[in-house]
Amino acid sequence: MQINKVAAGIAEKFRQAFNSEPLVVRSPGRVNLIGEHTDYNGGFVLPAAIDKAVYVALGKSNDDMCQFIAADMQEQYSGNINNLKKIERHWYDYINGVVDQLQKAGYTIPGFNCVIGGDIPTGAGMSSSAAVECAVLYALNETFHLKLDTLSMVKLAQKAENEYVGVQCGIMDQFASMFGKKGNVIKLDCRSLEFEYTPFVTDDIKIVLFDTNIKHSLASSEYNTRRLQCETGVAMIQEFHPQVKTLRDANMDMLTKYVLPKDKVVYDRCRYVVEEIQRLQAACIDLVHNDRVAFGKKMYATHEGLSKLYDVSCRELDFLVEFVKNEKAVLGARMMGGGFGGCTINLIKEGAIAEIAARIAKAYQDAFNMEMKMYVTQIEDGTNIINVHHYAAQL
Ligand code: GLA
Repeated sequence: MQINKVAAGIAEKFRQAFNSEPLVVRSPGRVNLIGEHTDYNGGFVLPAAIDKAVYVALGKSNDDMCQFIAADMQEQYSGNINNLKKIERHWYDYINGVVDQLQKAGYTIPGFNCVIGGDIPTGAGMSSSAAVECAVLYALNETFHLKLDTLSMVKLAQKAENEYVGVQCGIMDQFASMFGKKGNVIKLDCRSLEFEYTPFVTDDIKIVLFDTNIKHSLASSEYNTRRLQCETGVAMIQEFHPQVKTLRDANMDMLTKYVLPKDKVVYDRCRYVVEEIQRLQAACIDLVHNDRVAFGKKMYATHEGLSKLYDVSCRELDFLVEFVKNEKAVLGARMMGGGFGGCTINLIKEGAIAEIAARIAKAYQDAFNMEMKMYVTQIEDGTNIINVHHYAAQL
């Protein structure tokens, strides 16, 4: 019912503002079970779309003018479709970035209006920005009959983030938002872009996010630095092994021989990535055997690597992972996403969630004088059109 109400509310705002009927698209946030900072290194990731989403109600305007309304923030942006202005990391940059990419790809986009909103907490590492890009792109593709297939939309949304917003992100977030499938995680090979769905059985365990409430402000600059460090490591190996194109092609032996003697920090970064790519492969075998204990242990190992070698964690994230480590009902936990704040992802036996959450929230408050939020997530379908009339009738 939650989804329905949000979507219906956004559609209604559109009708009031623009006096016409919009197309409504839902695009979800994502979790990633394991495989962090591997996407831009040609490795694997294991994300899933969740039950928190961005909704966009969108329709043509009658001229070149556009008006975008952020329902939750009471903010709006107006501009000419041929001259949309960028304001650093503002919500409408993600809309304008998508338009910019479509225009660069040779599409003529007429003026349009939209109302955007949803329930993905921003800065919590659930990829609200990718969800905005995917929602708007999907809606534009439908409205203006651009005939883009899903993978082309994913790539274009990622490019918008890389070139317009300026974060050199990999493809995981946009891919998960668009291709998500209810009840399944996506094993995505970020080199070939081949993927498969694996059912993720959650009858007795839930995917629980503990939110540090720290907004990852360092994230974009440090993220780009990590990416460069990985590329530096690859270049060092390439002198001796020209066939190595990304860290996916590298192994520990190469790192020890060609990277460690030159730069310890670059070595640590690359070591984490090479280990994580292997760890994910092993974790997928755990999934096939439904060995969630082994899977959970690998999540803890990932956190260790992200914290100590890749150096993208923070005190608050480490605290939340450390706290649950000896809890029998918690199978695994680690920081999730780019890092420097946001959430930890935890696999917790359902019956124990409330009790653990109460204890950890209190401990977090005592340690940092800050509130910790919790989200119990469900794995849902990826980007789709919402029939708001159907929902309006149910309200
Ligand atoms: C961010 C990026 C993704 C990915 C993760 C780390 O969410 O947008 O492409 O690199 O960080 O795994």
